[in-house]
Amino acid sequence: MMAEVKSVRDAGVSGKRVLVRVDFNVPIKDGKVLDDLRIRAALPTLELLQKKGAAKIILLAHLGRPDGKAVEGLRMAQVEARVRELTAVPFELHENLRFDPREEQNDDAFAKELAGLGDIFINEAFADSHRAHASIVGIPKFLPSLAGLRFEEEVRRLSLALTPPQGALAVIGGVKFETKVPLIKKLLELYAEVLLGGALANDVIKARGLPFGGSLVSDTPVPEEIASNERLLIPEDAIFTETGSNAERSGRVVDIRAEESIIDIGPATSKRWAEKISKVPFVLWNGPMGIYEQGYRDGTDVLAEELVRSGIPAVVGGGDTAAAVSKFSFDPQKVFVSTGGGAMLQFLADGTLPAIEALKQVPR
Ligand code: 3PG
Ligand code: MG
Repeated sequence: MMAEVKSVRDAGVSGKRVLVRVDFNVPIKDGKVLDDLRIRAALPTLELLQKKGAAKIILLAHLGRPDGKAVEGLRMAQVEARVRELTAVPFELHENLRFDPREEQNDDAFAKELAGLGDIFINEAFADSHRAHASIVGIPKFLPSLAGLRFEEEVRRLSLALTPPQGALAVIGGVKFETKVPLIKKLLELYAEVLLGGALANDVIKARGLPFGGSLVSDTPVPEEIASNERLLIPEDAIFTETGSNAERSGRVVDIRAEESIIDIGPATSKRWAEKISKVPFVLWNGPMGIYEQGYRDGTDVLAEELVRSGIPAVVGGGDTAAAVSKFSFDPQKVFVSTGGGAMLQFLADGTLPAIEALKQVPR
């Protein structure tokens, strides 16, 4: 697949102005970067470019969703400080690309303007590869374009996850079942079992005719072939909260009351699923088991700890899942933490991404 995509390894960049699209869309609080995985992932490429004698490195990035206008709290300067702490490689960082509406509109004139800043383009923003935006798919129309080191590694590791060994396990959590139907169908073909958590599980609980109380479900029904697949596992017990109260309890899913909602997988389920994880040859995991951002993290953390403790080869992605796994120390050769969330899921579903296709074309 990557055969047609050229690598930064093979690029002659000496004396050239190199334009690098990075994903510095990192969580920030009070001007401080909370998680720098995506920044660190881009550094080996920057170091390589410096070693190869690039005349200038210009970084292109976005932060948040400013909707085509300048938003003070989303200036790149906050991220820049952290990048300079992490590397001595000199670079210029362009202001948030999404301050210009033409970035998300994939405007050709904007892509051409950006391309004019450099002589060669490197995509080192795997996490944005599902976005057909000007800086991702537009610039390669105008400049010779290559994949960064991390970009290549992401594609290589995720491609391996599409040819898993026999008996491998996929764990999928998060929300919006309707957007994950093709992925879940594909994983059921490739993996021995698919464990479903988060709000995704609620949809299957409902489709299987079980009570789901006031739990979050999507409007689109689950296709019958998914709902009836016995290798698709849903939690047997869960943590419930009651509408309008902070009280929580755990119980069997079948015993949920009308006024209760599922907010995490329960202790019996996390124990059983952790046991499964410890016994398989490979695990693919994207998405938390509970409402992670509201602090319902126990189920996700139990699985993350067991995954790391047992040393099972794995590919893990999505911000919350990556954060959960990263609380523990692990061998990065065994557990690959993808910088991508949506990009990872779309690559798994489609086997390619708009950014990958863009890198294959010959510039005008
Ligand atoms: C991400 O965080 O998923 C990427 O940086 C892309 O950002 P987006 O979801 O706002 O397009
Ligand atoms: Mg996203």
